[in-house]
Amino acid sequence: MELVITESAADAGVLAGRIMADHVRRGARAIGLATGSSPLGAYRELIRQHRDEGLSFAAVRTFNLDEYIGLPPAHPQSYSRFIRDEFTSHVDLLDANVHGPDGNAADIPAAAAEYERAIADSGPIAVQILGIGANGHLGFNEPGSSLRSRTRVKTLTPTTREDNARFFDDDLSQVPTHVITQGLGTIGDAEHLVMIATGSGKADAVAAAVEGPVSAFCPASILQMHPHVTVLVDPDAAAGLQAVDYYRFAVANKPSWQSF
Ligand code: GLP
Repeated sequence: MELVITESAADAGVLAGRIMADHVRRGARAIGLATGSSPLGAYRELIRQHRDEGLSFAAVRTFNLDEYIGLPPAHPQSYSRFIRDEFTSHVDLLDANVHGPDGNAADIPAAAAEYERAIADSGPIAVQILGIGANGHLGFNEPGSSLRSRTRVKTLTPTTREDNARFFDDDLSQVPTHVITQGLGTIGDAEHLVMIATGSGKADAVAAAVEGPVSAFCPASILQMHPHVTVLVDPDAAAGLQAVDYYRFAVANKPSWQSF
């Protein structure tokens, strides 16, 4: 795992975008996308590189991590719509190549299995961008999620529903209770995991994920089991880490031949 403490949240976003762009330039067939505010800077950087530097996504398929159950696809907070509004509609990605789990399927378990098949058929996912919940969730894998779980239904914790109420006019009653999410095993199949966390509200979750025990109670601790992980944090999100000096030393002395 490589842990990079950037000077600012904006720098973390740009670096995440550059890492994803490098994968696309190297011929990634599939990339994994996340919602929430954390990846937005990365998407802005990818859109900029598409506009200014000719970065093309024409041969790429994208796969979202998760989706609310029961929100119509056109709902402003549906993750299917979010990812189109914030990223994919601004680059040369064919809409047919933008995928997410179907939160409106009549048979959700069948839709989950179908999503796993779609990822397997197009994968492996070369790079998966991730945020982290304040409670350590990845995607919508809440504390207690099996470390080897696959795409399935989860019930949101009260904390996550409260955290996300800001996107639903601060009205908790509008926040769905159930979601369909890639499992921790599904996420772990991606070749490179890039997690971005900024702000003091993420400091405890980052410390638990990076330096705490591997535990279903902190789903993001599965990062410790993966062979290629980059964690990008701003100083506020790094505040709970013990080995800050070492992380900074490792980045400052990164061999010139070594990319992210
Ligand atoms: C959301 C998403 C996650 C996201 C997390 C943090 O509920 N399901 O994929 O990483 O919570 O969101 P934010 O980046 O806005 O803090």
